[in-house]
Amino acid sequence: MAEIEISKDLTDLSEGDLEGFFVGWPTKPSADAHLRQIKGSTLAILAREAGSRRVIGFVTALTDGVLFGYISALEVLPGYQGRGIGKQLVDAVLAELKQVYAIDLVCDPDVQPFYATSGLIPYHSMVARRREKIV
Ligand SMILES: CC(C)(COP(=O)(O)OP(=O)(O)OC[C@H]1O[C@@H](n2cnc3c(N)ncnc32)[C@H](O)[C@@H]1OP(=O)(O)O)[C@@H](O)C(=O)NCCC(=O)NCCS
Repeated sequence: MAEIEISKDLTDLSEGDLEGFFVGWPTKPSADAHLRQIKGSTLAILAREAGSRRVIGFVTALTDGVLFGYISALEVLPGYQGRGIGKQLVDAVLAELKQVYAIDLVCDPDVQPFYATSGLIPYHSMVARRREKIV
């Protein structure tokens, strides 16, 4: 298996590097929307196989850099799950957010044990989901 590289380098990142994400979403964002989502985030960390441009996992976060940080998206492509890549991405984004007071994210209950391995705890939240905004 090729070595996995975790990097904040978005240089020359293109839509073609971002195929296969949003598994299970009833309405999938386009690759163009995904590229803009990554570039528009305060923090974006990518996982790639050494020597390959193809992104096999990513995490994004939004933060004010003072009190609050929000982990907005995390996904590892199905063929690469269960190899510790998701945990590496979460731990990398937590390290980037180490100065802020609150780190929040929204997830399904079945993923809570995964985030718990990085020290996060279950809490409660309020959300809005507007599927018609997905492009
Ligand atoms: C959730 C996700 C990012 C995990 O990535 P991954 O690379 O497969 O996870 P890792 O291999 O780093 O797992 C780290 C630890 O969490 C555990 N874990 C992983 N997924 C889990 C799950 N769904 N439920 C419980 N534990 C889980 C692993 O067993 C591992 O534990 P260990 O260190 O004791 O062996 C990945 O399954 C994924 O992309 N899922 C679809 C998208 C998604 O749900 N994203 C989160 C949105 S909030």
